[in-house]
Order: sequence, then structure tokens, then C-alpha cells
Amino acid sequence: MKLDSKLKIVNAKLVNEGRIFEGEILIVNDRIQKTGSQVDVEGTHEVFDADGNYVIPGLIDDQVHFREPGLTHKATIATESRAAIAGGITSFLEMPNTNPQTTTREEWEAKNAQAAATSFANYAFMFGGTNDNLEEILALDTKRVPALKLFLGSSTGNMLVDNPEVIRKIFSNTDLVIAVHCEDEATIRANMQMAVDAYGEDIPIEEHPIIRSEEACYLSSSQAVALAKETGARLHVFHLSTAKELSLFQNDIPLKEKKITAEVCVHHLWFSSEDYKTKGTHIKWNPAVKTKEDRAALWEGLNLDLLDVLATDHAPHTKEEKANKYGQAPSGGPLVQHALPALLSAHHQGKITVEKIVEKACHNPAILFDVKDRGFLKEGYFADLVVVDLEKEHTVDASSILYKCGWSPFEGTTFKGAVVRTLLNGKWVYKEGVVSEESAAKQLTFDR
Ligand code: DOR
Repeated sequence: MKLDSKLKIVNAKLVNEGRIFEGEILIVNDRIQKTGSQVDVEGTHEVFDADGNYVIPGLIDDQVHFREPGLTHKATIATESRAAIAGGITSFLEMPNTNPQTTTREEWEAKNAQAAATSFANYAFMFGGTNDNLEEILALDTKRVPALKLFLGSSTGNMLVDNPEVIRKIFSNTDLVIAVHCEDEATIRANMQMAVDAYGEDIPIEEHPIIRSEEACYLSSSQAVALAKETGARLHVFHLSTAKELSLFQNDIPLKEKKITAEVCVHHLWFSSEDYKTKGTHIKWNPAVKTKEDRAALWEGLNLDLLDVLATDHAPHTKEEKANKYGQAPSGGPLVQHALPALLSAHHQGKITVEKIVEKACHNPAILFDVKDRGFLKEGYFADLVVVDLEKEHTVDASSILYKCGWSPFEGTTFKGAVVRTLLNGKWVYKEGVVSEESAAKQLTFDR
């Protein structure tokens, strides 16, 4: 008989469900067996002294682009999931804009098989909706697929869904969460034409939030919200970037009861339009990073629970691709390794509490997508944990970057708050700068 593997973490500040308490955790095999001010353990076991550091649940990132299959010159599931682990993200939901796109059950199964063989973090894959795959969508096993993803605005990968009839049919017929990218195409196209008329080939990057404007976002997200209300669909609006859109969401009911929810991403909380001057296309995202006022409103919306989930939209492109002129440089940037340090630094700047970070980046994605037994420091749950040194300062430099693309929009930034260790399914997979070569990852399952 195989002996149980037991790990006791002592001298920790445990962060869970709005509380921080000094205590211990006992992990047996891949699950948390007990948490408390003191926990007893019998037999052979490992003890880890957390040295007074914080221990939080592993983050569940509900929006990443890991580029496999087909775009593996930018990233792979293996490279980016290692970076995620180093950043305290233990589970990810990956997007369908790969090549081939994840818009058939066959492609979806193939991605899962690739992740089973190569992922270092727990994984699940969203299924992409298109103008013509309704039959595939209706045949999905909703117990295995975390959600549908619809690009209601175009971005990397030509996945625009713009047939109103199809969108209505999808909204009316699926029980799955429908995660949407909202930017109105016609508005963007008209704005782009104006920019081309004014600047020709040399559109300055500062025009990006004017082309992919507040109006483009609002028009699209308000239409999606209206359609969800009419059809009863379960809508999750991705990467909110404007103050104006916050009026579309509510904070007077618990998350579990909400039918319309929203996500905000680290880059929209960190950068503002003032940063285009220095960061250039490295902070070109869709939706665009907008004004300082928008950024302040997003922090407020997050703290007021108008926004439910904190995520990354990790979307790597190569340095060479990003070095193109505005028109040709793709949108997106890598974030999974640095999102948590950025959030901890924002905590030190008085923008958010540690408890709120845990609520929005760990608990809420688990609740929203019905992720089974993860996202909390709870007895019986999988032992996905992050040991965090809240005081440690570190500067992002090229030598420590794990992304395949080898760059970060945060290069040169000094963060206060660092990941010391990551435990995945009961195994230490990241220790003081080193990611284990052995994967402990599992496929996420859903409690539906
Ligand atoms: O900036 C972005 N990049 N936004 C998206 O929605 C897609 C992503 C990508 O895949 O490159």
C-alpha cells in the first residue's frame, strides 16, 4: 500500500474568505485535510515553516492565450503554464483563438490531450463560438467545458462572431457561461479610417484608445448585456476597460445568483493612456488601455463588487511582432508570471486589500465557473496554494522572464510582494525561483 504523503505548513498567515488568520495547514496527498491555529498530524510528514508569510489559494486565471496549437512561435502550453506557476497562478482557462481554432469538439479534445501531456498548471479550455458552429456548441458536454468564448469584437485570430441571428441563437440555447470580448467593429473601423486619413501609415500608438474607443466598448457590451437580459443567458463580460461600462453591472446580489458578471484584467488596472509614450506597442491590447480616470473607476468597480473576477488575458506575441508599426503590431502581452506581484504592489499602494485579491482572483473564478474543489483554503479542497512574501521587493528583468516570448510589459518595474513557493495538487512545483521539471497538473473539473 502506498503511504500517504503529508505536509504541514506552519507559521503562516492564511488568507481565505475575507479573513487573515495565523495558523497551520495539513495537506494529505493532493488535498487540504485541515486548517487551524494548530493542526495535529501523525506519522511521517514534511513540515514547511512559512516564516510568517501569507498563504493564499492558487489563482485561477479565467482568461489566457497560450497559443497552442499553431502559434507556438509565440508560446506553448508548457512554457506559459510554467510561467503561471512561478506567478502563483495554479489553474487557467485558455482561449480558443489558436490555429486551428477551438471551435469543434475534436480540436477541443486535442487541446486537452496536449495539456495532459505538457501543462504545468491545472487546465481547462473554453470553446469558441463562430458564425457557423451552433451544432457543435449544442452538442458540448457542459460538465467538461468551462464556458463558451465569443469574440463580439475582432482581435487576434479572426474569430469575430457578427451574425446577430447566430448570437441570439447561442444566447437562447446554451446553459454554459458565455464569456465575451466586447468591442463594436463598425465603430472601430470608422475610427481607424479617420486615423488613417490623419496619419497615413504612421498612426501613433497614442491613438489606440481613440480608435478602440470607450464608445466601441460600451456599444458592444451594452448590447450583449441587453441580449442576456432578454434571453436569460449567463453572460460574463471579459476585460472591462472603461468607467462607462460599469453602469451595466450590479453589486446587490451574491455572485452565485448573478446572471451577468464582469472581469477586469491586471493591465487595465496598472497602465493608463499616459504609458503609451514610454511603453509603445508593448501595452497595445484589445480592448485598449484607456485613461487614468477609467483606471481609477475600474479599481473602484472592483472594490465595490461591480467587477467580479481579476484575470490576466495573458496574450504573448514575439518581440519582433511587437516591434512593428502601430497598424501591424498585434495586440496582447504576457502577464501570468507578474500579475500577482503587480496586484500585491497595488495593495501596498492602497488600491486593494489582500483579502479582496484572493476573493477576485481565487474564490470568484471558482464560484463563477463551478470549478470543483479549488479556489479556497478549505478542508477537502485540492491543495493549490501560494506562499507570498508581501514585503519582498524585486525588479522585473529579462533574465527572470519565463515566457517563451522573452519580454514583459513590466520590465524595469520594481514590485513589492513576491511568490516564494507554489504548491499544486499537494506538490511543491515552484520554490524560490525554480519551477519543478515534474508536472503535478490536473484537468479542472466542474461541479454542475
Ligand atoms: O489584446 C488582445 N490580445 N486581446 C484579445 O482579446 C486577444 C489577445 C490575443 O489573443 O492576442
